[in-house]
Amino acid sequence: MEKITRRKLLEDSLLLLAASALPVSIAGAEERRKPRAVGPNDKIRIAVIGFRGRGMDHVRSYAAMSDVTVAALCDPDEGAWGAAVKAVTDRGQSAPRTVKDLRRIMEDPEIDAVSIATPNHWHALAAIWAMQAGKDVYVEKPATHNVFEGRQLIEAARKYRRVCQVGTQSRSSVGLREAMAYLHAGKLGKISLARGLCYKTRNSIGKSNGPTLVPESVGEDGYNLWLGPAPIKPVMRQRFHYDWHWFWDYGNGDIGNQGVHEMDKALWGLNKRGLPKSVIALGGRFGYEDDGETPNTMVSVFDYGDCQLIFEVRGLKTDDLKGARVGNIYYGSEGTMVVPNYSKAIVYDNDGKVIQEFSGGGDHYRNFLDVCRSRKTADLNAPVEAGHYSAALCHLANISYRLGKPQPLNVKSQAFGDNKEAYETVARFEQHLADNGISLSEGTYQLGRTLQIDARREKIVRDEEANAMLTREYRAPFVVPARV
Ligand SMILES: NC(=O)c1ccc[n+]([C@@H]2O[C@H](COP(=O)([O-])OP(=O)(O)OC[C@H]3O[C@@H](n4cnc5c(N)ncnc54)[C@H](O)[C@@H]3O)[C@@H](O)[C@H]2O)c1
Repeated sequence: MEKITRRKLLEDSLLLLAASALPVSIAGAEERRKPRAVGPNDKIRIAVIGFRGRGMDHVRSYAAMSDVTVAALCDPDEGAWGAAVKAVTDRGQSAPRTVKDLRRIMEDPEIDAVSIATPNHWHALAAIWAMQAGKDVYVEKPATHNVFEGRQLIEAARKYRRVCQVGTQSRSSVGLREAMAYLHAGKLGKISLARGLCYKTRNSIGKSNGPTLVPESVGEDGYNLWLGPAPIKPVMRQRFHYDWHWFWDYGNGDIGNQGVHEMDKALWGLNKRGLPKSVIALGGRFGYEDDGETPNTMVSVFDYGDCQLIFEVRGLKTDDLKGARVGNIYYGSEGTMVVPNYSKAIVYDNDGKVIQEFSGGGDHYRNFLDVCRSRKTADLNAPVEAGHYSAALCHLANISYRLGKPQPLNVKSQAFGDNKEAYETVARFEQHLADNGISLSEGTYQLGRTLQIDARREKIVRDEEANAMLTREYRAPFVVPARV
């Protein structure tokens, strides 16, 4: 009886939701709004959009800056408002306006810039709406939820002449900027391989055995806003917030979560601005059965012709690789560079001797605001183009994986041709699974489809199934437009 009541309640609430999703226009979204002229002595008036987790760091950082006013806060979960307002007033600023619907922010001519820390499926749309409304944008990583959105973001930034910084904050670290200059100057010789590592333990998120209720502080209207471009579906996880990372409708798995930072640093080191020639990924969700959909263990190989990028995600217990867990390793003809975190790099010669070290952090928000004032977008440390490519690589790996087929772990795959580094990485992947008690003789993994990429057109060659996954079906009115 209790079950029926619960299901009925859920059905009723989804019906209500569908009704509340009817198109609502955003005043001025289609036509460019003239940005407010911000004088050198004026404060930049910023709104933070989404601030339960990462967004709180945005709120605290802006509230502490003397040339910024945190003018508004937007989150469909009213339960998050109190702590964020307090974080602002604690730093001596007036209490900001709070709203549930980000369209109220877009319409507000008194807001100069927005800082977006919503779930991934909202990033590009919120950023595009903001730029259409004449606002500068700081958008969290991954810049996008799918490949199509990246090009649209770039177009919007160009068309509306807006600043668009992506939240890969390593790009503002002094130590890494120096390390990358070292690589780009050829001091490590020719780089043949960049590894990205996302070795970060991710525990089971549990099994909900059916839909769970939307938190009261979010409510029906809030859930509609939370879902935005995603289809209306009941919540299929125990924890409403954060765990969306492991569902394809909202997140991109750990490769697009923690991993996109390391993907970005790998591309930065290789000095590549564009998509690779081909991609293949393999992996699975190993070690537990829970509600999550995305792999917790994955190897992906990106071929750039003159060099390659190999990315590893490990969500189960693991040792490090050459001192890095969440980091990067670059292999050059003259030595190796290890980047073990967001602000440090160590260079080894071919005999394993340390020959150079770099260290030092930076302030990514400050870089964004400085460019908002100067309008010199070339000074942005993480411009939208870089954000697009690093996110796109994560999305391509996920597409390859999702189009894959189960393979027995005990059969040696021939999928990598004569790519020795790929086989070595897959052998370590298998050993890692065995170390975590996964039976190699009985277990299976998902071997992804090789995607050949037309990098210029940003399409997958002769594969309509894969091409369809470069975008999504948007739920009106939350649509990333084909023409921004
Ligand atoms: N740069 C970094 O180091 C870093 C670190 C952590 C998270 N992140 C990124 O920040 C984003 C948020 O992650 P999180 O861990 O804080 O997630 P979270 O689920 O804890 O918080 C997201 C917040 O966004 C709100 N939200 C959802 N839809 C919204 C909408 N339409 N308008 C306004 N707010 C909305 C949610 O209600 C929630 O309060 C993610 O994209 C993540 O990748 C970046």
